[in-house]
Amino acid sequence: MLIELTHIQRLYRSDEVETTALCDIELSVEAGEFVAIMGPSGCGKSTLLNILGTIDRPTSGSYRFGDDELTALNEASLAAFRRDHLGYIFQNFNLIDDLTIERNIELALVYRNMPKSLRQERVASAMDHVGIAHRARHYPSQLSGGQQQRAAIARAIAGEPRLILADEPTGNLDTENGAQVMDILQHLNDEGATIVMVTHSPSHADLAKRRVDMLDGRIVLSAGIAI
Ligand SMILES: Nc1ncnc2c1ncn2[C@@H]1O[C@H](COP(=O)(O)OP(=O)(O)OP(=O)(O)O)[C@@H](O)[C@H]1O
Ligand SMILES: [Mg+2]
Repeated sequence: MLIELTHIQRLYRSDEVETTALCDIELSVEAGEFVAIMGPSGCGKSTLLNILGTIDRPTSGSYRFGDDELTALNEASLAAFRRDHLGYIFQNFNLIDDLTIERNIELALVYRNMPKSLRQERVASAMDHVGIAHRARHYPSQLSGGQQQRAAIARAIAGEPRLILADEPTGNLDTENGAQVMDILQHLNDEGATIVMVTHSPSHADLAKRRVDMLDGRIVLSAGIAI
């Protein structure tokens, strides 16, 4: 198993209110799976994805990734884990405005001890993969939304991550660009990448291999079976 979440809780506390964003989440994902997470606004999808991405820590529970218990790691080890194993795709692309597309993608690799020539090879190959090579020297603001998202996917895959996390990757795109992004994700999955994607689109969720439905911080349906 690549991922095993057990009894995951995430509480947000302020002086007056306590919000249970995630409650007793149990989720296993095998290497090579493509999982779609659905559910109404505020049900905890992004919180779950952030915990999978180790950007956020659970209040309690266990997160195993391969042989490692990630909740036991310190911040420096988690940063190394993210750098080496994860690729992120966000709804609003999150490219850096004053870097060209190729620099944006390369930035994901600079903290790895990788010779510059190999880095450039990886950047070129990632851009080819998503059909954005002709915009390598452009800045994000000079690209369409669909092109920016494809560049963001190139950034996510340049490090050849074991897990790709995508939070509403088609949420800001029109139908055609959304379909293109889904094509790319399916293709990456066919090549062996494990993907967990949050989406509000039932038709995009249908393109994944498994669907997980959430409600009020809980998983209510997984792989078509009510739990
Ligand atoms: N930093 C925070 N402090 C307090 N509460 C938070 C915080 N972040 C999220 N929450 C709460 O946790 C719950 C889950 O939020 P989350 O962002 O995971 O929802 P979501 O399913 O991704 O929604 P959407 O579809 O709108 O993106 C919500 O009730 C939200 O208000
Ligand atoms: Mg969200």
